[in-house]
Formats: sequence, C-alpha cells, structure tokens
Amino acid sequence: MTSIDAEGALRVESAEEMRELGRALGARLQPGDVICLRGELGAGKTTLTQGIAAGQGVSGTVASPTFTLVHEHPGEVPLFHLDAYRLESSEELWDLGFEEYLRAGGSIVVEWCDRVADALPDERLTLLLQHAGDARLVSLLPHGERARALAAALRQEWEGRRRP
Ligand SMILES: Nc1ncnc2c1ncn2[C@@H]1O[C@H](COP(=O)(O)OP(=O)(O)O)[C@@H](O)[C@H]1O
Ligand SMILES: [Mg+2]
Repeated sequence: MTSIDAEGALRVESAEEMRELGRALGARLQPGDVICLRGELGAGKTTLTQGIAAGQGVSGTVASPTFTLVHEHPGEVPLFHLDAYRLESSEELWDLGFEEYLRAGGSIVVEWCDRVADALPDERLTLLLQHAGDARLVSLLPHGERARALAAALRQEWEGRRRP
C-alpha cells in the first residue's frame, strides 16, 4: 500500500500500546458506531481490535477473522468484527449480512475496509495504521460529526496520557 501523509498521526510504540489505544476507543463506542481499519498485513489492525473489545467489555478472544470473515462478541454493546481481506466487492459484504450488523445495536470493526469502500456507511471513523520502523503511526480519519467527536476525544486522551 502506498503510504499516505501521516501528519498528525498518533505514534504507537508497541503492540501493548496498540491495545491501550484500542481500549481507549472501545470504552467510548456506542451502538451503531462503525470503525474502519486500513493498513497492510501486520500493521496492527487485529491488535487494535483486541483493545477495542477489551475497552468495550465484550467477552471472547479476539482473533483475526480472516477465515471466518465475521466474529461476533456478545456484550451489553456487542462487537461485530469483520475482515474484508478476502472479499472481492462490496456486494459480498452485504451477502455477509452487513446490513443486519448495522442494525443489531452493536459496534462494528471492519479490517481491510478499503476493499469494500462502496458499502461503508457515511458515518464512520477510519483508522489508518502504518509502519514507522518497529512502531506504528495511526491516522484518525473521521467521516461525519459523531466520528469527528470520537476522534477528537481519542486524540486528546492519547496525547494527554502518562507514559510509563
Ligand atoms: N504499535 C505496534 N508496534 C509494534 N508492533 C505492533 C504494534 N501493533 C501491533 N504490533 C505487532 O504486529 C504484528 C501484527 O499485528 P496484527 O494486529 O496481527 O496486524 P494486522 O491485523 O494488521 O495484520 C503482531 O505481532 C503485533 O503484536
Ligand atoms: Mg488482522
């Protein structure tokens, strides 16, 4: 993937920090929120999702859904974790039942969302993960008012946190 301008991106030094960022995001998610993850293989998308699940307080182990395509994690606000890596078109996302997931009262994380760009809702927070040596840069790309608020709160929390 061509790297895009990562100016203003959050710097994430380790997998543990990636989970920490995910927890901060997950704790803020509400039913209907859609989180889209972009970044090449190994960028940290699944690791971030593990943190989101922890922050959202859902049960179950978060693994890469590459082969099963969708993992459902029950909870007060359930988490639907999708991987679009193997999808050929947005149509196939609908075939997976994306519409029902959107209406199911949970939050949704879509890895490889750029593969199904046409099917993504107007309101969504995209996170672009890029390698920066051994660390990662995470760009927040909000679409819509809700996502902008989420991104601003997450950035503020991340930049203001204490480092060990
Ligand atoms: N911020 C980070 N810094 C260093 N390593 C990371 C970071 N985030 C994740 N990793 C590591 O990168 C590898 C790939 O992560 P993974 O979440 O599986 O990527 P993806 O789902 O994007 O393919 C894992 O070994 C993970 O521990
Ligand atoms: Mg993955």
